[in-house]
Parts: sequence; C-alpha cells; structure tokens
Amino acid sequence: MNSKDFFDQFYQKTKEHSYSKSLYTFFEEIVRPRLSTSDLVILELGSGHFSLFEDISDLQAEVTAIDFSSSAIALAPKSKISYKEVSLVDGLFFNEAKYDLVFDSHCINCITNEEERDIAFKNIYASLKVDGLFASELMIQPDVDQVSMPFKMIKSTQDVEQEIISHGFRILYFTISRDSGFTSVVDGKEIKCDLLRLVAEK
Ligand SMILES: C[S@@+](CC[C@H](N)C(=O)[O-])C[C@H]1O[C@@H](n2cnc3c(N)ncnc32)[C@H](O)[C@@H]1O
Repeated sequence: MNSKDFFDQFYQKTKEHSYSKSLYTFFEEIVRPRLSTSDLVILELGSGHFSLFEDISDLQAEVTAIDFSSSAIALAPKSKISYKEVSLVDGLFFNEAKYDLVFDSHCINCITNEEERDIAFKNIYASLKVDGLFASELMIQPDVDQVSMPFKMIKSTQDVEQEIISHGFRILYFTISRDSGFTSVVDGKEIKCDLLRLVAEK
C-alpha cells in the first residue's frame, strides 16, 4: 500500500475532527509571536480533515490547508479556511511566492524518500514571500536506538538541520524536546521519538 492509500483509508475510518494538540501550542507559543498581526497569508501542510487554524482565534489571516488525501478533504468543514487536495510534491500549486507562513502539520515526516523531500522543500521555499517563515514540528531520532515507523521518515537532528540549511533557509528557532516526543505502537512495541520544533526564514 502506498502512503496516499494509507491516509485515504485512515480518513475513511476516522470521521471525528481532530489534530495533534501539540501543533496548536507550537503555533500559539512559538510561531504566532514571530508573525505580523494583520493580513497574513498562511499555508498549512497536511491538515487532514480539520485544520488547527479552525481553532485559532483573533488571527487576521487567509488560510489555505492542503492535504493529498481526497477522503480528508471531502470530510473537511465548510469554513473560512480553504481546503485543497494538493500534494506537497506537486509542482504547479507552489509556483507563486505568496505565503507569509508555511506551517507543517506533521506532513514532512510522511514524505519518505529523499527525492520527494527535496521537491517538498523546494516547493515550500518557492511559495514563501521574501522573509516568509517556515514552521515545522518533526519527529526526530532519539539519542539511543534508531527507530522506524511505517509511512514515516524519521531523521537525526543533524540531518534535518542540514536539510533546512541546504534548501536556503535561515534557522531562527530550533529546539529539541525529549519529554514531549511522539509515541506510537508498532507491532505491539512502543516506539518513542524526540520532538523537534523549528522556525526558519526564507
Ligand atoms: C500525521 S498526519 C497529520 C494530520 C493532522 N495534521 C493531525 O495533526 O492529526 C499527516 C497528514 O499529511 C498528509 N500527507 C502526507 N503526505 C502528503 C503529501 N505528500 N502532500 C500532502 N499531504 C500529505 C496525510 O494525508 C495526513 O493527513
């Protein structure tokens, strides 16, 4: 099964609207203070069927939320947020430098080969205005014992840092948390990753 089929099936089974609450905290505490206060244009990557920006109040922003799962987009609420079925590794959608912020809602971890990640980072860079921000919360390898999860690419901190810099970004914020890392159960075994939060500027 490929990654798109996996997520399509997941959203066909999971109808309740939700997102990872750590994304909300990351946006409010770390990203929002770095944004201007009005007329923002924001792109969310991998919103699933419910954008976290549905719950962000007092934000003067035009928000587009993309996800490559047609099932997710079909289930998205009718709201001020524009939900679009787009893959981060498609070219055409990203050909205009129009966003003040590109916010990764756990999408980049789901891009599991280097060629596609290269396209994804080039697309993000191209779609940002000059001085626009890219913010991402990522699973990274823990200090000991390499981990893997199906349909995820989990890099080391150093490899993510290199990936960001090599695509032309300037890192403004880069913090690793060992306590609030992601936990998942794979084949009955608990897998725990560290959590990286980063903000970078074009
Ligand atoms: C781990 S889920 C996170 C969903 C939601 N943001 C949340 O917090 O629960 C990752 C999301 O990214 C989407 N996704 C994965 N690869 C993608 C790609 N190449 N382009 C667009 N969306 C993608 C999946 O369909 C899925 O909805």
